[in-house]
Amino acid sequence: MQLVFIGSGFVGTTTAAACASFGHDVLLYDINDARVASLSSRNRRTIDACLFENGLADLLIEHADHITFTTDYSIVERTLDTAEAIFICVPTPSREDGSTEMSYYESALKKLAGALVKRNSGKQKNRIVVINKSTVPVDTARFTQEQLDKAGVKNVGVVANPEFLVEGRAIEGNIHPSRIVVGATTSKDFAIMRRMYAHFQGNKDIPYIEVNPFEAAAGKLLANYLLFSRLMLCYDVMGRVSEQFNDVTFEAVRKIVCSDPRIGFWGFYDSIYAGGSCLEKDAKSLAHQLEVTKANTDLVRASIESNHRQLELFLARVKKSIAGGVKGNSIAVLGLAFKRDTNDIRNSAGPMVVEYLRSQGAAEVRVYDPGVDAASLAAYAKESSNKRTTVVPCKSAAEAMRGTQASVITTDWPEFAKLTSVFSKTVKAPYLIADGRRMIATDYTMLTKKGYTVLAVGSPLYRPTTK
Ligand SMILES: NC(=O)c1ccc[n+]([C@@H]2O[C@H](COP(=O)([O-])OP(=O)(O)OC[C@H]3O[C@@H](n4cnc5c(N)ncnc54)[C@H](O)[C@@H]3O)[C@@H](O)[C@H]2O)c1
Repeated sequence: MQLVFIGSGFVGTTTAAACASFGHDVLLYDINDARVASLSSRNRRTIDACLFENGLADLLIEHADHITFTTDYSIVERTLDTAEAIFICVPTPSREDGSTEMSYYESALKKLAGALVKRNSGKQKNRIVVINKSTVPVDTARFTQEQLDKAGVKNVGVVANPEFLVEGRAIEGNIHPSRIVVGATTSKDFAIMRRMYAHFQGNKDIPYIEVNPFEAAAGKLLANYLLFSRLMLCYDVMGRVSEQFNDVTFEAVRKIVCSDPRIGFWGFYDSIYAGGSCLEKDAKSLAHQLEVTKANTDLVRASIESNHRQLELFLARVKKSIAGGVKGNSIAVLGLAFKRDTNDIRNSAGPMVVEYLRSQGAAEVRVYDPGVDAASLAAYAKESSNKRTTVVPCKSAAEAMRGTQASVITTDWPEFAKLTSVFSKTVKAPYLIADGRRMIATDYTMLTKKGYTVLAVGSPLYRPTTK
């Protein structure tokens, strides 16, 4: 089948690459020239530097003959003559009040509607579905249909096919999804979607859920809210108990709590912030949509506040524990990506910590992230520096620590689990190690014995004992 993707970011590109591997021809249109040039380069390093997802570069290179990237809309217009499905995968960020910024979606839809009426020389003879992959308000399918009708588009169906991918495992998630949700209103559209997802039909391990588009959109928002609220329970309740009661370790409590199969282990890792471009944004959107209907949103709002509270509490502890305070000092920030296996630094703890240290007058902030390529790290450092604070890009954790008074660990990269030996070799006690991800939890006591001060999310402060 010929498929078109509007927006070639994390969702568009990984979904399109997986579809190409299932035998479809895919065209990806994006307004970002640099992104399109990188993703179509057929060069692994260039692709990874642009959009790092395990296995993505392999798929893009292997199926390059079935994948076209473009910034030229006339190619989209031509392709619509034979296309059977168009995926809209543009950003839907939060506005200040939590509502969803729909301007990217609206502008992409308007342009698309104008092109769809002209397909097959205006005859519009092929049935085509407009599929929403962006995470959007519950009633977006109605709005989409109205816009298409207004523009005179015929023979078109509106489908909600929410994306449940997990960044860092997006390719795996597309090839072996947890479920496929198709929200449509006509049997013709369900049939197109079944054909497109033929690869998954009859697979008992992957539920194929057919619902209406409103249920599909609501299900996506609620799934993300439940994941988000679970993280908040872990950070704000379980983490707090472990911080407030001496001799209660987070990991021991976690083992006890999560061994109950009704609870399970997912999400029970302590952290200073639930970052990324989706979970918090979708919680805000849910709260806003409920508010519009005059429903109570106390619980949803409390979860959002709780996320920010973790970071504030941790940063206040850092400020208090650093020898000589933050002002004028040099501090290392280890990790910019919002989690391991991605170079996505949107809404991420690392950059927020850098911003805080800058606001407190740090002289130097030395940053390192194993997933962010040197050029992007250098660009980030340049942008983030100001007259008072120099942000220095570093090639390793050891380089970042050199000459600093403290290190703050902000991302759960596997190599950070081995930081204890790097600290021992690189920085002399007294020194503050602030572990925002409990990456070296097993070594806190040992490091304290060596004279380091250890501050960890989910632990009371470990101060070295003087003999
Ligand atoms: N990233 C995730 O993990 C994830 C998971 C599930 C759902 N989602 C949802 O999917 C949507 C896209 O997310 P993403 O992470 O892929 O975003 P992204 O920012 O990585 O990519 C979006 C792309 O759309 C392009 N774009 C913007 N306006 C356009 C237009 N008018 N025409 C063509 N291209 C345009 C941008 O240049 C960008 O390349 C959002 O609604 C998001 O909430 C994201």
